[in-house]
Amino acid sequence: MKRRLAIFASGAGSNFEAIARACADGTLPAEAVLMVCDRPGAAVIERAERLGVPSFVFSPKSYESKAAYEQEIVSRLREAGVDFICLAGYMRILSDVLLDAYGGRIVNIHPSLLPAFRGAHAVEQAVAYGVKVYGITVHFVDASLDGGRILAQEAFPYEGNDPEEVHRIGQRIEHRLYVETLRRLFNQEIS
Ligand code: GAR
Repeated sequence: MKRRLAIFASGAGSNFEAIARACADGTLPAEAVLMVCDRPGAAVIERAERLGVPSFVFSPKSYESKAAYEQEIVSRLREAGVDFICLAGYMRILSDVLLDAYGGRIVNIHPSLLPAFRGAHAVEQAVAYGVKVYGITVHFVDASLDGGRILAQEAFPYEGNDPEEVHRIGQRIEHRLYVETLRRLFNQEIS
């Protein structure tokens, strides 16, 4: 049976696109049924339109609390019959509203070898620290910042000091590793 995915993003949406394409071409036994974005104007919105994936775009500050906008998200997810969530550059910590509704069925991708360098500026922090081995992590999501059980990691060596270059190398790995990990998870090769 095909999974019904919601993909959450806040920015460019390159991981969203990798997952949506893998659904469309049959690489993943899943359908991308909704893109959720917390930043009106983000580039991911245009990508979703181009790929024919419906979007729910909202502005957090027009709700009175995180619980209120997450309630709205949960209703949209239910309406769309979503049964699994992929966070793909969604730069917010989830509250109990989403975790209670979809706990254990939410995964995230992060541009570091967790638990090192959590948060929104992982690559910049790793470069500033002078690390020589970088990496990408795919993990289940819990209530902590970039926390939750690890599903997959891939490391790469880099000796320079250009965060943009690390992002470029890392993103190529992300697009492949995210799809590969979801495929293994959905096919019950990992759990
Ligand atoms: C990705 O590199 C992802 O790992 C990172 O945001 C980027 C989104 O790029 N996520 C985090 O830092 C989570 N803490 P994209 O919009 O092109 O997919």
